[in-house]
Amino acid sequence: MSKVHHVAVLVGSLRKASINRKLALALAELAPASLKLEIVEIGDLPLYNEDIDLDQPPEAYSSFRAKVKAADALLFVTPEYNRSVPAPMKNAIDVGSRPYGQSAFSGKPGAVLTASPGAIGGFGANQHLRQSMVFLDVPMMQQPEAYLGSAGSFFEEAGMLGDGIKPFLQKFITAYAGWVEQHVKS
Ligand SMILES: Cc1cc2nc3c(=O)[nH]c(=O)nc-3n(C[C@H](O)[C@H](O)[C@H](O)COP(=O)(O)O)c2cc1C
Repeated sequence: MSKVHHVAVLVGSLRKASINRKLALALAELAPASLKLEIVEIGDLPLYNEDIDLDQPPEAYSSFRAKVKAADALLFVTPEYNRSVPAPMKNAIDVGSRPYGQSAFSGKPGAVLTASPGAIGGFGANQHLRQSMVFLDVPMMQQPEAYLGSAGSFFEEAGMLGDGIKPFLQKFITAYAGWVEQHVKS
């Protein structure tokens, strides 16, 4: 079998019952054997402030950057807040992008999936996140786009992934595995 690629998964919602976290875990289950998905937590990152990042960065910054740097690829799974990227996710992007010239993200293949109980599936957050990551030299998968609306109905009462959304998640993660294979730096 070819090499297993480690994927750092960033989830943009901090709440326990997050639909997006459940989707990230479902993607980890559905991923082909060439990918190993692991959530890198972002909830304990202090709000980005250059003043505290000079001589001795906070431990949370250093450990987050190290985990992202150790990964081969990136996957962002996030809701939309006020038609844009939720603050914890944007903060994680800002932390990972610094110090200047040493971005933890640079060159790693990426993809974004947004999900919302609303109708347009986090389209605004998806496009805003894509904009930041393209600037940060992350080749972002173009297709299939993943704006998942009506996401409140994806999981059954017991927490099981429903059959309705499963084929799309399978298609998405299979395409992403191909994207990673194509763009990963050896
Ligand atoms: C501050 C805030 C802003 C929100 N703005 C949007 C929005 O712009 N578009 C949208 O579709 N849903 C919006 N929502 C609803 C979220 O999509 C919904 O709470 C979703 O379940 C959050 O994802 P999660 O289940 O992964 O936590 C917003 C929720 C919050 C708390």
